[in-house]
Amino acid sequence: AAPTDYEAEDAQISQGVVESNHTGFSGRGFVNYTNVAGSYVEWTVPVAQAGTYSLTLRFANGTGVNRPLDFQVNGAISASAVAFPGTGAWTTWQTRTITASLAAGQNKVRAVATTAEGGPNADKLIV
Ligand code: GCU
Ligand code: CA
Repeated sequence: AAPTDYEAEDAQISQGVVESNHTGFSGRGFVNYTNVAGSYVEWTVPVAQAGTYSLTLRFANGTGVNRPLDFQVNGAISASAVAFPGTGAWTTWQTRTITASLAAGQNKVRAVATTAEGGPNADKLIV
């Protein structure tokens, strides 16, 4: 199936806020993770068939410090401490792709900040 965009601003957010002050985002804005470990964005991703899928996060990190995220799928760690290094500016957006097993039906895909820096700014998840 063609990739589908899931905007971060439409996801469930814990310890983060929707903002739009850095250009280049899609949709209405992006999520600014609170700079604390454990902040997260959780998308609900429906797929018709169980299998291995590419999950692509579009992000920006205007610092020089990596902002790793753990990816959980339906409550289980799928990828640990995936690196989201600096992109050069908060207005410079890049993508990073992981692969994950999804179940048929609705999946909860949660991207959790693992350091006190919080996550990168998150624009959308593409599945
Ligand atoms: C700045 C920037 C935010 C970003 C934050 C951070 O405040 O404007 O978009 O989330 O830095 O360092 O996390
Ligand atoms: Ca932040």
